[in-house]
Amino acid sequence: MELSRQSYIIFSITLVTIFVSFVKSSLPQGLKTLNISSEITTDPNITASFATDFGNLFNCTPGAVFYPSSPNDIATLIHFSYTSSKPFPISQRGRGHSTYGQTFIPDGVLIDMSSLGRKSGRINVTDGTFPYADVGAEQLWIDVLNYTLKHDLMPRVFTDYLSLTVGGTLSNAGISGLGFMIGAQISHVYELDVVTGTGEIVTCSRGSNSDIFYATLGGLGQFGVITRARIALEPAQKRVRWSRLFYTDIKLVTSDSEKLTSPGNNLSGIIDFLEGEILLGVAQASLIGSTFNFTNSDVQKIIDLASENNGPIYFLDVVVFYNDTTATSAEQVII
Ligand SMILES: *[C@@H]1O[C@H](CO)[C@@H](O)[C@H](O)[C@H]1NC(C)=O
Ligand SMILES: *[C@@H]1O[C@H](CO)[C@@H](O)[C@H](O)[C@H]1NC(C)=O
Ligand SMILES: *[C@@H]1O[C@H](CO)[C@@H](O)[C@H](O)[C@H]1NC(C)=O
Ligand SMILES: *[C@@H]1O[C@H](CO)[C@@H](O)[C@H](O)[C@H]1NC(C)=O
Ligand SMILES: *[C@@H]1O[C@H](CO)[C@@H](O)[C@H](O)[C@H]1NC(C)=O
Ligand SMILES: *[C@@H]1O[C@H](CO)[C@@H](O)[C@H](O)[C@H]1NC(C)=O
Ligand SMILES: *[C@@H]1O[C@H](CO)[C@@H](O)[C@H](O)[C@H]1NC(C)=O
Repeated sequence: MELSRQSYIIFSITLVTIFVSFVKSSLPQGLKTLNISSEITTDPNITASFATDFGNLFNCTPGAVFYPSSPNDIATLIHFSYTSSKPFPISQRGRGHSTYGQTFIPDGVLIDMSSLGRKSGRINVTDGTFPYADVGAEQLWIDVLNYTLKHDLMPRVFTDYLSLTVGGTLSNAGISGLGFMIGAQISHVYELDVVTGTGEIVTCSRGSNSDIFYATLGGLGQFGVITRARIALEPAQKRVRWSRLFYTDIKLVTSDSEKLTSPGNNLSGIIDFLEGEILLGVAQASLIGSTFNFTNSDVQKIIDLASENNGPIYFLDVVVFYNDTTATSAEQVII
């Protein structure tokens, strides 16, 4: 799979890859004296359940799993390692969507970020001219969306798959089919709380501790643990017009993508979202009906196309946001 910068076709799911590394060694006994010791387990039945990731290429059982009840607990753990004579590795995991074992930590402590979310108050919305949401890093984008919609607001950029954590995608940029117009998710963050490698909780933004802010956004988890993000919101879109355009010729896929996304092109600005995908043959083409509600005859057309082409076929997902006022222009034929 290749990400074509020019055509801005996004082929891959955004990955969750978060990692904090320290000097490797085995876990010190002193961990048991901390007030967070009851939140750390070495039970092999539990650690084994963290031994794989989305990529499923490797197995690696963490030395221990940590279920923090607050960002302070994470700070306590990292500070302990930092000041220990034998620092140990610490890694963090949201939904485990790393693809190459990036969150694996054989001799260290894996932070299960989801345990921060067992209480309420982890998503707050502030209305106003520049509305925003303060959200725990462990929150899933689907839940952030659900919550902000109650205020008729939504985050500006989403990844393709919404059951990923905020901390996870912000550690990876948060690339999306909306991004060719307005950038990745990390371009729409006002502020972060980050537990740094010394175990301090730092609030950072463009204007304050900006080095930590810019290093942590898209930093693959290597500069600290994000525990809160302040995310820009916008008025929720009312409706979308979604079209899926099928192709047999990759050259047409890329030239159409450029027509739709290049600044200065008279078609740019018409669409709001563009993604593309390859279907490797008839077998993949026939699955398309199970992921979207195509009619049987449409599914058959797609299968026939794959069969006739005897090779890969391609599609572009093109989306236009609209409301009652703009409904007519959303119906325009755009290619
Ligand atoms: C782990 O699971 C096995 C099988 O379910 C069980 O026999 C064993 O007691 C469990 N170990 C712990 C430490 O809970
Ligand atoms: C552990 O102590 C720290 C302060 O040193 C505190 O912030 C944190 O909430 C405590 N955690 C637990 C689980 O008691
Ligand atoms: C949400 O607001 C409550 C009450 O002010 C606060 O305790 C909590 O920390 C906030 N949550 C986030 C994620 O900022
Ligand atoms: C959205 O939140 C409501 C509760 O406010 C809940 O009942 C509903 O299941 C949620 N929807 C999703 C898709 O999570
Ligand atoms: C874009 O420009 C071409 C060539 O000048 C023209 O034929 C076409 O109608 C224009 N499309 C739009 C949407 O303005
Ligand atoms: C799928 O399409 C059928 C037939 O058009 C319709 O009855 C059904 O409600 C649709 N389901 C969804 C989830 O949109
Ligand atoms: C409809 O969408 C347009 C373009 O985004 C916007 O300018 C307008 O305010 C919206 N109208 C309503 C009623 O929401």
